Amino acid sequence: MTEKIKVHIIMGSVRDGRFNEKATFWIADLAKKREDLDIEVVDLKAWPFPMYNEPSSPSQVKDGKYPSELATKWAAIIGKADAYIFVTPEYNHGMSGVLKNALDFVYAEWNNKAVGIVGYGSTGGSRAVAQLRASLPELQLASVRTAVHIMAPWMLVDENNQLKAGALDSYESSANTMLDQLTSWAHALKTVRA
Ligand SMILES: Cc1cc2nc3c(=O)[nH]c(=O)nc-3n(C[C@H](O)[C@H](O)[C@H](O)COP(=O)(O)O)c2cc1C
Repeated sequence: MTEKIKVHIIMGSVRDGRFNEKATFWIADLAKKREDLDIEVVDLKAWPFPMYNEPSSPSQVKDGKYPSELATKWAAIIGKADAYIFVTPEYNHGMSGVLKNALDFVYAEWNNKAVGIVGYGSTGGSRAVAQLRASLPELQLASVRTAVHIMAPWMLVDENNQLKAGALDSYESSANTMLDQLTSWAHALKTVRA
């Protein structure tokens, strides 16, 4: 049997009442149905990074020993995964600042790994997804073609901020295509790293 692909799903919003939790738990549940994937959710709320302020560039760091203890711990977590799913809101036509900041803190641990993206907003997070994709090659991260674009997330919750029944069902097809592509690229990139 081939080894499982370890996927970290990174939550790109830390706001109270964030839609991000709904999108993250939904994609995590879908991904967990796959026997070839090992899924872990990474909540940036648990990672109180300052705005990026390390004295040396992450690309110059060797052996995962970053200037700060927090970045070194982050590197250890990021380094464990074969692939990532970034779940990002769209804030002012870009990805969230908290996600970009978390990306910036380490370097080698991201290299030669596959990425799938779930975005959401008035146009399905399209501009946030495009901006995120533009940053990824610099980290030697490879984003797969299909992203999940959840339209107008504020329409998908009720007055108690609960996800309406079946609200994300129509996105299962694109999510499954994204997961297929992520799995095959993650396997391929394992050989690049080896
Ligand atoms: C600071 C801010 C900027 C936003 N800018 C955009 C935007 O440019 N495009 C868009 O579609 N939605 C925008 N929105 C609406 C968000 O898509 C919506 O609030 C979403 O729920 C945010 O994700 P979160 O709840 O997971 O934090 C913005 C929301 C905030 C708080």
